[in-house]
Amino acid sequence: MVCLGNICRSPLAEGILKSKVNAKMVQVDSAGTAGYHIGNLPDTRSIEVARNHGIDITDQRSRKFEVRDFDNLDEILVMDANNFQDVLSLARDNNDCQKVKMILNEIDPNTDSSVPDPYYGGEEGFESVFQMLDKACELLKARLS
Ligand code: 4NP
Repeated sequence: MVCLGNICRSPLAEGILKSKVNAKMVQVDSAGTAGYHIGNLPDTRSIEVARNHGIDITDQRSRKFEVRDFDNLDEILVMDANNFQDVLSLARDNNDCQKVKMILNEIDPNTDSSVPDPYYGGEEGFESVFQMLDKACELLKARLS
């Protein structure tokens, strides 16, 4: 799961998918394309909205997406079109490129919609992001199983 800062959207996506799958079957991780918040906890608003839905994401720390992630991951689900371009710019070959997908295409295939960045907005933005990621992760779980 990849977003820009790895403190708002992708930590929620990681926590939500982890809450739905068997950890022995599916490994879930998240990262940001930027390094602004490396080592930081998720944004308090993401922690709060996850907690409201029974999910604890306080074990997560922000990290930056690395080229070697392409070697360790089967799928790289990005939150928006900028993340898509930034991750794709690090791809070394077609195999790397094929791994990068817009997460909301799980809900509406081929539409390439973005999960809005809630960082500069209010708490309601985080609940809305939670709802769209929850729906996408439910469909992702079904696809993976
Ligand atoms: P995220 O949100 O990409 O969903 O983690 C953001 C977090 C931090 C910043 C921007 C977006 N920032 O500019 O610091």
